[in-house]
Amino acid sequence: MSNRLKVTPNDLSAFWMPFTSNRQFKQSPRMLVGASDMHYTSSDGRKILDGTAGLWCVNAGHCRPKITEAIQTQAAELDYAPAFQMGHPIVFELANRLVDVAPEGMDHVFFTNSGSESVDTALKMAIAYHRARGEGARTRLIGRERGYHGVNFGGISVGGIVNNRKMFGTLLGGVDHMPHTHLPEKNAWTRGEPEHGWELANELERIVTLHDASTIAAVIVEPVAGSTGVLIPPKGYLKRLREICTKHGILLIFDEVITGFGRLGTPFAADYFDVVPDIMTTAKGVTNGVIPMGAVFVTKAIHDAFMTGPEHMIEFFHGYTYSGNPIACAAALGTLDTYREEGLLTRGAELAPYWEDALHSLKGEPHVIDVRNIGLIGAIELQPIAGSPTKRAFSAFVKAFERGALIRTTGDIIALSPPLIITKGQIDELVDHVREVLRMVD
Ligand SMILES: Cc1ncc(COP(=O)(O)O)c(C=O)c1O
Repeated sequence: MSNRLKVTPNDLSAFWMPFTSNRQFKQSPRMLVGASDMHYTSSDGRKILDGTAGLWCVNAGHCRPKITEAIQTQAAELDYAPAFQMGHPIVFELANRLVDVAPEGMDHVFFTNSGSESVDTALKMAIAYHRARGEGARTRLIGRERGYHGVNFGGISVGGIVNNRKMFGTLLGGVDHMPHTHLPEKNAWTRGEPEHGWELANELERIVTLHDASTIAAVIVEPVAGSTGVLIPPKGYLKRLREICTKHGILLIFDEVITGFGRLGTPFAADYFDVVPDIMTTAKGVTNGVIPMGAVFVTKAIHDAFMTGPEHMIEFFHGYTYSGNPIACAAALGTLDTYREEGLLTRGAELAPYWEDALHSLKGEPHVIDVRNIGLIGAIELQPIAGSPTKRAFSAFVKAFERGALIRTTGDIIALSPPLIITKGQIDELVDHVREVLRMVD
């Protein structure tokens, strides 16, 4: 065991932690100091089974050799290259490799550094695309209640999570929201796609009638909403959204930041639902979470609409210092190699039935009011403690960590999304941890 495992920093105050109850954490820190395949190592030397692929990103498991080696080699060869008006070979190679695994029609890739940046890039692309085609009045953006699209101003504006919005002023103007599709009274205990609720897509027609299609640039949805507790689209819902968008010339953006790269047992959710969007935002799994990177996929039609005017002119006034950073590209190539060699972009499909049965065995355990699943995603919804929402699930999270499993909670929902290398035995282990903590918490 290395010395690092025994060391806990004695002053935790300087670091303002993101999306964390800082005061609670600093009283009883949960520190991770190592990782390998399906496990983390905690600072007290315990193995922690990773039930969440880090934050839905470590799809190939931890510290995978191909990825580590690719990063090390690249860092020694070309560490950084300017992203604007300059190129380096592997960013082009990566874009081609990504287009190869993407759904048919997603022909071009724009690189960012995170899901939030991918979302804001996609929203800007949508508005600029319409303007480039002479439809400059199409500026309105439509999101959805309970949607999560990262934390930048565009993303929180189209997002539908009150705590992510209410502190931050007026957000973007010209945004409207469709209703969410979570209907527990009709769809509780559903395995896979729920039967009820596809007609909620027709709310988009109502919004179009209100604002007129000529003012609407794009609709953005997560194919499966993750951060607000795994909301699985009702059967036929996404197809209907696609139809309405096509009919009105509105771009459809799929935010595939968590569903991309094999999470549903298909390379992308677009493949799973057989619905191709106009723009697809990704991040996380593109580099197995190892180096920050995001990728926005667009159709040829969108890309080509920008490729006009004098050739010496920049076509899209947007980009980041680290767009296509060489080391991130190397990590992504190592990740794609690992996915391909181990069949990880489709492995979830083989495991999904076992995963589903294991999760639904939690029906009847204390506090459980719903279990739902799709691909290698699962949610266990708990009855909130009256007057103290989120407390029960948070206690379950803390107790699970103490027992040796990393789970994630959002509100009173436990969301599970393990690395795609998980074995059946480890699925049982993970679900047993959850079962035990449900029996322990108040
Ligand atoms: C659907 C979706 N979009 C965007 C994001 C934001 O990604 P990031 O945290 O990399 O900015 C997330 C993060 O969980 C997400 O789930």
